[in-house]
Amino acid sequence: MNKIMPLARRGISSSRLALGCMPFGGGWDQTPFTDEHVKEAEAAVDAALSIGITMFDHADIYTKGKAEQVFGRVLNNRPELRDQIVIQSKCGIQLGDDELPGRFNFSKEHILHSVDGSLERLGTDYLDILLLHRPDPLVEPDEVAEAFASLKASGKVRYFGVSNMSAAQIAFLQQAIPDSFAVNQLEMSLGHLHFVDQGVHVNQAAGTAVNFAEGLMEYCRTQNIQLQAWGPLAQGKFSGRDVKDQPEHIQEAAQLVQQLANEKETTPEAIVLGWLMRHPAMIQPIIGTTNPQRIKACKDAERQSQLMTREEWYTLYVSARGESMP
Ligand SMILES: NC(=O)c1ccc[n+]([C@@H]2O[C@H](COP(=O)([O-])OP(=O)(O)OC[C@H]3O[C@@H](n4cnc5c(N)ncnc54)[C@H](OP(=O)(O)O)[C@@H]3O)[C@@H](O)[C@H]2O)c1
Repeated sequence: MNKIMPLARRGISSSRLALGCMPFGGGWDQTPFTDEHVKEAEAAVDAALSIGITMFDHADIYTKGKAEQVFGRVLNNRPELRDQIVIQSKCGIQLGDDELPGRFNFSKEHILHSVDGSLERLGTDYLDILLLHRPDPLVEPDEVAEAFASLKASGKVRYFGVSNMSAAQIAFLQQAIPDSFAVNQLEMSLGHLHFVDQGVHVNQAAGTAVNFAEGLMEYCRTQNIQLQAWGPLAQGKFSGRDVKDQPEHIQEAAQLVQQLANEKETTPEAIVLGWLMRHPAMIQPIIGTTNPQRIKACKDAERQSQLMTREEWYTLYVSARGESMP
């Protein structure tokens, strides 16, 4: 079994977990961020660093640019950090306003403009990784290729990747783009099981309800693309959030997670993330909590993934899906 992360095989030195910075800077409105937001972000970054996290996930749109700005303030206070961490950001979504709806934009002009904005807000000269955020139906791969070539040549971006894309969409872009994609970021967790269900339900009626591109896990593994999981804590559903309003099987799965955590003398967060990381694709969870205590509660996740037996993995899967195996 190959235990090396796809990112590492490309020479990108990243931690096994990454911190999602989507909530940094306050709300998704025009209210400016405050010093308090910078302090909160700094506390989250410190908690992440304290458990070995060196990768930070952003997007140009998070809190309408404030997330990157606040992170930029943290970097400004601690300039030595830049060389020790991996910064990933995303482009390609345009938020709606009074005049236009939310939409996607993979035009060369938009990609270049977006990266310049991210670099300015983050106060850095380069992004380690840039992801195309969601597939744009109007994409022209040659245009994306030109944008990426320019970003690479200017040193503004080191590696490229995608998010929420199928194998066919990746292959379609790659026939024009010489740099092979390093990352595909998708929603995957005990609360969002389609990435497992898709493979389990081939040739079955139950498979029609599965919403995950066919063969995507296998494709990314074959192409050495790092699968990253957004929403990996399932918003706390299995690790302590009040789930009285949730279906019975979710409440039972949450109890099972707690029971395993007690038996293994660890945290529910480590079990929930360990379950994801036990997958042989070496999935990298992008944890979305900004609460320093909860970030630290994720510390044991990698160890739990190594200790998790096949039987425990399936018991958690079957419990969270609320149905026995086909
Ligand atoms: N590529 C994409 O399309 C995409 C989409 C969405 C997100 N992302 C990325 O993925 C990252 C993670 O996504 P996510 O935030 O959905 O992931 P998540 O890690 O599953 O959820 C984090 C959220 O759950 C809450 N939470 C966790 N444990 C809890 C508990 N025990 N009790 C109450 N609340 C709890 C956290 O609140 P506290 O902060 O209070 O702990 C936080 O609001 C984002 O930051 C972003 O970087 C990417």
